[in-house]
Amino acid sequence: MTQHLTAPLTGTSDDAPGHGRGWWRDAVIYQVYPRSFADGNGDGMGDLDGVRRRLPHLAGLGVDAVWLSPFYASPQADAGYDVADYRAIDPMFGTLLDADALIRDAHELNLRIIVDLVPNHSSAEHEWFRRALREGPGSALRERYHFRPGKGADGELPPNDWESIFGGPAWTRTTDPDGAPGDWYLHLFAPEQPDFNWDHPAVADEFRSILRFWLDMGVDGFRVDVAHGLVKAAGLPDIGDAGQLRLLGANDGGMPFFDQDGVHEIYRQWRSILDEYPGERIAVAEAWTPTVERTANYVRSDELHQAFNFQYLGTSWDAAELREVIDASLAAMRPVGAPATWVLSNHDVTRHATRFASPPGIGTQTREPGDRALGLRRARAATLLMLALPGSAYLYQGEELGLPDVTDLPDEVRQDPSYFRADGQDGFRDGCRVPIPWTREGSSYGFGTGSSWLPQPDEWGALSVEAQTGDPGSTLELYRSALATRRRHPGLGAGPAVEWRDAPEGVLHLVRPGFACTVNTTDTAVRIDTPGRLLLASGALPESGGPVTELPADSTVWWAV
Ligand code: GLC
Repeated sequence: MTQHLTAPLTGTSDDAPGHGRGWWRDAVIYQVYPRSFADGNGDGMGDLDGVRRRLPHLAGLGVDAVWLSPFYASPQADAGYDVADYRAIDPMFGTLLDADALIRDAHELNLRIIVDLVPNHSSAEHEWFRRALREGPGSALRERYHFRPGKGADGELPPNDWESIFGGPAWTRTTDPDGAPGDWYLHLFAPEQPDFNWDHPAVADEFRSILRFWLDMGVDGFRVDVAHGLVKAAGLPDIGDAGQLRLLGANDGGMPFFDQDGVHEIYRQWRSILDEYPGERIAVAEAWTPTVERTANYVRSDELHQAFNFQYLGTSWDAAELREVIDASLAAMRPVGAPATWVLSNHDVTRHATRFASPPGIGTQTREPGDRALGLRRARAATLLMLALPGSAYLYQGEELGLPDVTDLPDEVRQDPSYFRADGQDGFRDGCRVPIPWTREGSSYGFGTGSSWLPQPDEWGALSVEAQTGDPGSTLELYRSALATRRRHPGLGAGPAVEWRDAPEGVLHLVRPGFACTVNTTDTAVRIDTPGRLLLASGALPESGGPVTELPADSTVWWAV
């Protein structure tokens, strides 16, 4: 067990599985994307029973917790991030009994379960929204969303100039029950995802009740979708031309629909609910903010426990940039006493093995396959760096296999709504959502007994769990060793800071208590004084044990010192 050097902890953990107090401060949390993890019933779509059967893989991998992307009743307009019923499982994923069995089995294996909560918007098929449309103007249920009359002589123009994150206007016009064109409603994402009005007490009440429902089911925490979006600036003001440009530049700062100070009151209320339950239940914010300092606001001691570090995810494979973002992240978290978090891949971005296969500046979504071998080398090195940092790390299913993005999916199989709303120029998220391979052979390489909802590349059998198990050079064995070492080694994951030591250009050398990590981000081998006893290396080391070590290009080494 690791030492915890940071702020006082809340909650109790005596009855919790796994680690003791503050388990989340250095936890390694594995994201399962249920559609694409394991198909238990052979219909081509992953499901909860499939996840349950594969839990031993996750326990053996050595992670502490599993975060599941949404499995709730949903028309799947945005792969389940459009929830029609927050207390029901979509039949394609199973039943509440399956969820119960999954949570129980996970706890038996000392794995915690974190579920996705989608509070910014519901599905257009949610009962409230359907009734709001059906009952027409004046329906009290319309107050729970953002309905507005349009501008222009006949209300034919959207109420303001906000653009949807998925492209096109953030407003859709409704048709009144008598067939006449009616009011517009706000959707920051797809039209099938109407935004809730969080100023309405019924919305806040409902989500407090949903939290309790899942806490009573035994989940250990929540990943809060679009946590920065719930509260909109009063009056829904236009953002103007300058605002549109800022939004295009992916700098969400100053937007009237993101990161409004009012969201924090919601999280203070949620924190008090989480703290009522035994076992240190947590919440992690998906909050895209312009700076790590703004992100830190979500994890003040009476708010959420963690927030994803998207600044880290967006950093290129560059020593100076990495060091800067690591220092800035740790510094931002220190005043609020929250652990830093680290993440390289998730279901919304191109897998890091593919991002790092192209020159810097490629962005977080690309369809460029780049240089595969280079990408994998860097991805392995980047993972070892991430797992050496103090705080909690998030892994995305399949990264432990070194999977690349599937960059050449044909249009007919794509499902990402943002791809279609951006006319195929953006929204390449299906590429990281292809079902993962478990076995060398089989119609979907062990994902299920039939085909898979997105086709897997022919060479994925060779990347399967089966093919990599026992191969000491495989990415899977590297992850297993890294996580086992992290559990064994008290310096890893703990504490609020890292200490940097001088290193050649393009090389990072960081020291933690009893431990050191060296990263060569350059494309040539670099000779360094051997800092200690070799624990683990992401690339083949020519020789070890001598006073000088030659670090291969794009590699990371862990040392006991
Ligand atoms: C979050 C999810 C993403 C989804 C969006 C809308 O960013 O991670 O997958 O499309 O919210 O719910």
